[in-house]
Amino acid sequence: MDTVALVPAAGRGTRLGAGVPKALVRVLGQSLLSRAVRGLLDSGSVGHVVVAAAPDQLDLMGREVRDLGDRAHVVPGGGERTDSVRAALRAADRLVPSAGIVLVHDAARAFTPARVIRDVVGAVERGARAVVPTLPVADTIKRVDDDGVVAETVDRSPLRAVQTPQGFTVDVLREAYSAAGDVATDDAGLVERLGYPVETVEGHTHALKVTTSFDLAVAEAVLATAPAELPESRLDTPGSPDDTGSDNSRKVR
Ligand code: C5P
Repeated sequence: MDTVALVPAAGRGTRLGAGVPKALVRVLGQSLLSRAVRGLLDSGSVGHVVVAAAPDQLDLMGREVRDLGDRAHVVPGGGERTDSVRAALRAADRLVPSAGIVLVHDAARAFTPARVIRDVVGAVERGARAVVPTLPVADTIKRVDDDGVVAETVDRSPLRAVQTPQGFTVDVLREAYSAAGDVATDDAGLVERLGYPVETVEGHTHALKVTTSFDLAVAEAVLATAPAELPESRLDTPGSPDDTGSDNSRKVR
């Protein structure tokens, strides 16, 4: 069964300063977007990737994936993340009509190991309608009241932190998005609302969502110390390991 991955990256990046979308932030010379798309394609389980970009950033984002040829597509996203996923899904129907499995992936999880991507796709191939990679929660979790006073210590044993890519049969994601409102941040959550089971596979610490400059420092350290854990493309990176990255590499927030 063919698999297509959607990467919504049409956010304005207003939190980044200087209008730089997080997907374009570089780590050791290569953007998060380029790394994320390469990682998906190099996993061996994904045939095509559709990136949703802000309409005025189509060229900018297109340049990041141009060398990947006709397996990477960049299409205009919409006003909200939900609109961008919908637009990418519509484009995928047109560009990859044979696809039976669809993944939705964060560009910010640019270091997701191929094993995680393959496990998500494999679970859908074996019959799951929806699959998310998860990790156990390491921190103690407490519920607090309106005054910030602890009301309860939550049993964390059944809790999981959710990563991406999230995987679906194309039919189920289409159904979920036709029932979705305007602001959905969790694609699997939409599927849960339809009453379908959402299965889990084991995530990976390297699939962290790069959100802060600390995360960037962690990503750089991971790249420097554990290349075997990372997508093959890390070895194709134009910047050398000595490359300290561009000026915008500290602006992520
Ligand atoms: O801004 P926020 O953190 O909610 O964005 C989450 C993800 O959704 C980001 O990758 C962002 O680029 C993407 N997004 C999008 N289209 C929008 C808004 C956000 O693809 N209109």
